[in-house]
Amino acid sequence: MVELLQRARRLRGSETLRRTVRETRISKDALIYPVFVKPGKNIAEEIVPMPGQYRYSVDRLGAVFDRLLQAGVDKILFFGLPEQKDAEGSGAWREDGIVQQALRWTKDAYPEIYCIGDLCMCEYTDHGHCGILDGKTVDNDATLDFLAKIALSQVKAGADMVAPSDMMDGRVIAIRRALDAAGFSSAPIMSYAAKYSSSFYGPFREAADSAPTFGDRKSYQMDYHNAKEAVKEALRDIEEGADIIMVKPALSYLDVIRRCAQVVNVPLAAYSVSGEYAMIKAAGSAGSIDEDAVIAETAASIFRAGADILISYFAAEIGGFVDSGRIG
Ligand code: PBG
Repeated sequence: MVELLQRARRLRGSETLRRTVRETRISKDALIYPVFVKPGKNIAEEIVPMPGQYRYSVDRLGAVFDRLLQAGVDKILFFGLPEQKDAEGSGAWREDGIVQQALRWTKDAYPEIYCIGDLCMCEYTDHGHCGILDGKTVDNDATLDFLAKIALSQVKAGADMVAPSDMMDGRVIAIRRALDAAGFSSAPIMSYAAKYSSSFYGPFREAADSAPTFGDRKSYQMDYHNAKEAVKEALRDIEEGADIIMVKPALSYLDVIRRCAQVVNVPLAAYSVSGEYAMIKAAGSAGSIDEDAVIAETAASIFRAGADILISYFAAEIGGFVDSGRIG
């Protein structure tokens, strides 16, 4: 026998021992599920590049929430598809806007569901950009008032938290001031602080009908070659009043999650986006991978990298895996 004082395999000998020495603990409390709502009645429309994900009319949300609650997931992030789009994205802040309707209905019928409103204009503008245009560019400062207005209308409709995903500079402070002035100083802001310009959003843009009609989002979303810049964005958003910061996407950005987690003193969320979902689903249905095993492994990797919160289209599945003991 070779004399080895340290044998790493010793702690891998049984499932009980492996679970005992696990470094990453996953809780269902850390999961958030994105929900797409659209006007109309009795609609559950499958999103083609995201099999298993749907756009719902408000009257069909109950079944979704029942399934989520059963899996132990009680937090959602709302995205809306408005009746009509215009240059100023007015569907995003109207009192009878689709997300506002969904918020009112949810807070009434499912008060136990924690509702987060995504704040962006791209689903609501006829040009598909995340703000107000000045010629062909998005006017940063002109957009801030609109974001503040959307935030306020969502919180008035019942949003527990707002999540700006536009990547304008100064939006967190603009939203914070607007909420505070209206008496909503206790509504938290989760800012998409490090949001990269990413092709992994492709399926979402089909889901939310939000692809830009010209150009791209590179003048406001981050360049994927950069990581130090993510720290700069995160620290700046915290200074402006962000309560939670987010890194997005997740899987190709685990280094960014780690880096941000090491420097920030607020909870860190990661958003595993539509393209990550679509890839796992496609490979799973082709029989190339064990889909459930990969969902579990990727979720664990995001927490292991340093995320405290995971926003995922697989939230219900991950909740189920925590229950069954596959992860957690
Ligand atoms: C809105 C927004 C996007 C996503 C979340 N909020 C798309 C984008 O920036 O183009 C992407 C989410 C996903 O891909 O799952 N700006």
